[in-house]
Amino acid sequence: MVKKSVSTFQKLKDKGEKIAMLTAYDYSTAQILEKINIDGILVGDSLAQVVLGYENTYGVNLEEMLIFIKAVSRGAKNSFVIGDMPFMSYNISFEQGLENAGKMIKAGASAVKLEGCNDYIVNLVSRCVESGMPVLGHLGFTPQLLNTIGGYKIQGKSADTTEKILESALKLQDAGAFAVVLELMPAQSAEYITKNLKIPTIGIGAGAGCSGQIVVIDDILGKFTDFTPKFVKKYANLHDIIYNAADKYLSEVKEGIFPSEEQSFELNTEEREKLNAVK
Ligand code: KIV
Repeated sequence: MVKKSVSTFQKLKDKGEKIAMLTAYDYSTAQILEKINIDGILVGDSLAQVVLGYENTYGVNLEEMLIFIKAVSRGAKNSFVIGDMPFMSYNISFEQGLENAGKMIKAGASAVKLEGCNDYIVNLVSRCVESGMPVLGHLGFTPQLLNTIGGYKIQGKSADTTEKILESALKLQDAGAFAVVLELMPAQSAEYITKNLKIPTIGIGAGAGCSGQIVVIDDILGKFTDFTPKFVKKYANLHDIIYNAADKYLSEVKEGIFPSEEQSFELNTEEREKLNAVK
C-alpha cells in the first residue's frame, strides 16, 4: 500500500473525489481504518471528551495526545495520521508551537492540526510548513475557543461572516496549509468557501459541499452517548453491543457458565493424579 500524503489530499480534490477522514485514538481502531484505506486519520483532541471523559477539549495536554498519536501511528503505519495540537500547546510562542508540533511528528504523525487564524497562527503555520511539518487548518466553530464563542454555535450564518471565514481560509492556504477543516456551518457557506479555495476543505457539520468529511469515530459507531450532534449519522450501536456483551459476561461469571472447558487449560493425566493423591 502506498503511504498517503499531503499530495493525496490535493489530488483527490482536483479529481473531484471526496476525501473521507475519521478520528482514531487507539491501535486496534487505527488498524481497521488502515485496512479500509481511509484517506486520513485525525488523532483529534476530541479524545478529551470521548476517551478521557472531560467536558470539553480544554482538559487534554500534549503529553496525553502524544500517547494516543503513538498508538494510532503504530496501528496505521501506511496511513496519513494527523496529530491535533491541544489547547495552549502552540499559543504561547513560535518556539513552543514549533517544538510541540515537532514532538507530534516524532511521535509518528505525518501532519499537525491547528485551530483558528489570527496573524500569529498564520505565521506559525508557515513556520511549521517551512520546517517540514504539514498543517491542517481548522475554521468555523473551533472547540478551543468554546469559552470565547460561548457554546456550540453555528458559524458563518450570514454572507458577511462567511466571507470572513473565507478570508481566513485564504490566509491559511497562502501560509501553506494543505487543507482546512470547516466545522459547524451552513452547507451553502461551506460550499462557497470550498469553491473559492485551491486546497481541500474537510467538513464536520458543514454539509456535502466540502471536499471531504471528518467525524468523530465514537459518534458514528454509537459508542459515545453523552451527546449526539445533529450532524452525526450513526453507522452502528456499539454502546448497546458492548453493554449487552459485558452484561452477558457478568451473568455467566456469576452463574459459573464462564469459563467453560473450552476456555480452560488442562493438566495432563499424570500431574492430575499426583494432585488427586495429595488430597
Ligand atoms: O478533535 C477532533 O476530533 C476534531 C474534529 C475536526 C473531528 O477536531
